[in-house]
Amino acid sequence: MNATINLEHKHFPVLLNELISIISPLYGGTFIDCTFGQGGYSEKILENKKNNIIALDRDKDVLSSTSKFKKKYNKRFKFYNLKFSQLDQIKLKDRKIKGVIFDLGYSLNQIKNSQKGLSFSDKGELNMKMGLNDFSANEIISNMDENNLTKVFKVFGDEKYSKKIAREIVKKRVHKTIKTEDLVQIIDIVKKYQKTKTHNSTKVFQALRIIVNKEISELINGLINSFSIIPIGGIIAVVSFHSIEDRIVKFFFKHYSEQINSSRYLPEAKVSERCFKLINKKPILPSLSEIKQNPPSRSAKLRYGIKTNNKCDFKEFREKFNNLINVEDLR
Ligand SMILES: C[S@@+](CC[C@H](N)C(=O)[O-])C[C@H]1O[C@@H](n2cnc3c(N)ncnc32)[C@H](O)[C@@H]1O
Repeated sequence: MNATINLEHKHFPVLLNELISIISPLYGGTFIDCTFGQGGYSEKILENKKNNIIALDRDKDVLSSTSKFKKKYNKRFKFYNLKFSQLDQIKLKDRKIKGVIFDLGYSLNQIKNSQKGLSFSDKGELNMKMGLNDFSANEIISNMDENNLTKVFKVFGDEKYSKKIAREIVKKRVHKTIKTEDLVQIIDIVKKYQKTKTHNSTKVFQALRIIVNKEISELINGLINSFSIIPIGGIIAVVSFHSIEDRIVKFFFKHYSEQINSSRYLPEAKVSERCFKLINKKPILPSLSEIKQNPPSRSAKLRYGIKTNNKCDFKEFREKFNNLINVEDLR
C-alpha cells in the first residue's frame, strides 16, 4: 500500500532547530537520516548545498516523498527502504559520514493511517506493522499464550493489569478474532472504564507496537551499526519518545562516554570504553512553545555524542538490555 502524504497529517519535525544546531558545526558532508518519515530533518539539512543525505525508512509509504526529494536534490539525496538495524547493508564506497540521526517512533501520517492500525482509535484488524515486519499484532493476540502476553504488556507497557488483560484476551479469542475495537473494549472492561489522563489502552498498544516492530533490537543494533560507520569526530543524535527508548539511548552514550567517575573510590571507566564525548549530559527537551504548537513533542528527548574512539565493543550494552530482547523474542 503506497499512500501519498495527507497534508492535514503533515508531521512537525520534533526538536528540529536543536538538532540542526548540534550537527551544523560538522556541515559539508554526508549525513544519514535513519528515520526519513516525511523528510523534515533531511530537508533542513539539505538546505545547505554542501550537505548530502542518505535516508532510510522501513515504511514504503514514504516513497511518494522520497521521489520528490530525488527530483529536487538529485545526487545529494539517496534513499533505502531498509530498517536501521540494516545500516551495515548500505554501500558507502569511500564516503565519510559526518553524522547519523534517529527520530524514533511514528510519523503523524502513520498514526492517522487506519490500515496500519497503530492507534486504539482505529477499527478493524490489529496490524501495527510499520514496514518490513515478520508478523502483525493480530498474530500476537491470536496465538501468544497467557503468560507471555502478560510479560509483553508488563515489560513493554508497564501495564498494572497485564495479567487480567491477558487472561481476558485468551478467553475471548476462542470465540472470535480480536480486532482493535475488541481489544480496546477488553481493556476498558478489565479497568472498569476508569477515567484517567491517558487512555486505558495506551500501555497495551505501546507494548504491542514494540514487539511487532522489534523496536528494542532495532534501536540497539541501529546504534551499534551507526557507531561503526562514522569516523572519529562524527556524531550520533537520537530523539526518543518513551522511557524504554530513552533508557537505552542514555546508557549507550553515558556508559561509553569520557566522563570520569566522580568518586575516587570507584575504578575509572577503562580508556578503551570511552567512545563518545558528551557535550550535554542532560537530554535536550522541547521548549514550551514547541509543545504548545505540537503537543506530541512533549515526551521527546534529544541525546547525542561525538565519537572519540574506534575500538569499542558494545558487549555490556547488549547484555544490559538482554532481558528486553528476550521478551521481544517471545514471538
Ligand atoms: C517520527 S518519524 C520521523 C519523522 C521525520 N524526522 C520527519 O521530520 O518527517 C519516524 C519514522 O521512522 C521510521 N522508522 C521507525 N523505526 C524504524 C526502523 N527501525 N528502521 C527504519 N525506519 C524506521 C518510521 O517508519 C517513520 O517513518
